[in-house]
Amino acid sequence: MSVPFIDLKRFEEGIIEHYTNKVKELTQNTHFIGGKEVEQFEETLKNDNNVLYAIGCANGTDAIQLALRACGIGPGDKVLLPDLTFWATFEAIVNVGAEPITIDIDLEDLQMDFFLFQEAIEKFKPKAAILVHLYGWTSQYIHEFRKYAQEKNIFLIEDGAQSYSVKINDESIYKNAFISTISFYPAKVFGAAGDAGAVLTNNKELAEKVRSLGNHGRELHYSHGAVGWNSRLGSLQAAYLNINFPFLKKRIQSRRTIAERYRNDLKNYNVHTAPGLISLEGKILKGSKTKIRIEENGYLNVILIEPEKREKLIEHLKKHEVGYGIVYPEPISEQKGAKPYLKHKLGGEKAKQITQSVINLPLFPYLTEQEYETIIKVMNSF
Ligand SMILES: Cc1ncc(COP(=O)(O)O)c(C=O)c1O
Repeated sequence: MSVPFIDLKRFEEGIIEHYTNKVKELTQNTHFIGGKEVEQFEETLKNDNNVLYAIGCANGTDAIQLALRACGIGPGDKVLLPDLTFWATFEAIVNVGAEPITIDIDLEDLQMDFFLFQEAIEKFKPKAAILVHLYGWTSQYIHEFRKYAQEKNIFLIEDGAQSYSVKINDESIYKNAFISTISFYPAKVFGAAGDAGAVLTNNKELAEKVRSLGNHGRELHYSHGAVGWNSRLGSLQAAYLNINFPFLKKRIQSRRTIAERYRNDLKNYNVHTAPGLISLEGKILKGSKTKIRIEENGYLNVILIEPEKREKLIEHLKKHEVGYGIVYPEPISEQKGAKPYLKHKLGGEKAKQITQSVINLPLFPYLTEQEYETIIKVMNSF
């Protein structure tokens, strides 16, 4: 049997009907922008993540741009980011006119290296940094990142596009961030029926700036206090997310179960287990220096394998029709599009090493037992 890398069509019963009826209702009433659905969704985001302010916006890339602009980041400002992330993190910095500086990756948790981050702050004096919570978990040094940024007066923006439902010591990862951003791109763990995003913060002033910048810099309907742009969250997207929210816990449980089974059943492979990650029973899987407990959301399976072997494994998976991913095939600093903007970087060899050895197996909610067994059989016959 063939197994797709991702299948977004495994809707729980009733979702499509509920959404179709909602589209009809909203269309009949021409409720397209703002209104009840957006308000309800923002309320859900606040309550689910224990933050004071949640502002919906058009997508996860805009969310980062809104956060940067709200922090006053613009031309002439330096901004740190990890050398391994989705391209949007880099684009957001460039799009607000700031100067990106890439920082190498910690091989233990595959996130931005905290010690290089400290070094880069001394060396480049950046005004902000974007910490990306990649792959469905976070850095074992998350508390240190936050503390150090605060001590040095650096705006720490947390790109949480991939980290909805990740928990640190039983609390939402977004709860104690200065400002964090989310993407509801359909393939994310909490996906919309198109593009959508949000910014979360506990800071009232920042929240007000984000809301205004994403709505043409509005103060009143025809009174504009700043040049922003249009990045409002549409009512249809909010409605879809509201309908899906009650199923999120079950989906995350399904993802986490598969993530854990891969770790147990593929002992011959280096299935990545970051320090501080906890099992379904709450046991820390790998020693954490910081003693934090990270609950993953099962966004992505990450296996590291020697580059020559990876090519052969890809052939093997293709032959047996098992989907796979390479997330990500290039460090940010080596992308062609980075060249005109990247004047400085710190390291990058480890990011390169990861891109040459990473491979991802199917991991999405409700993968069937038969599909899972096929994957394991194919992996173990390599
Ligand atoms: C780490 C990261 N940052 C930013 C984004 C951008 O989000 P969006 O596609 O919603 O603009 C994504 C996902 O696409 C992402 O994975």
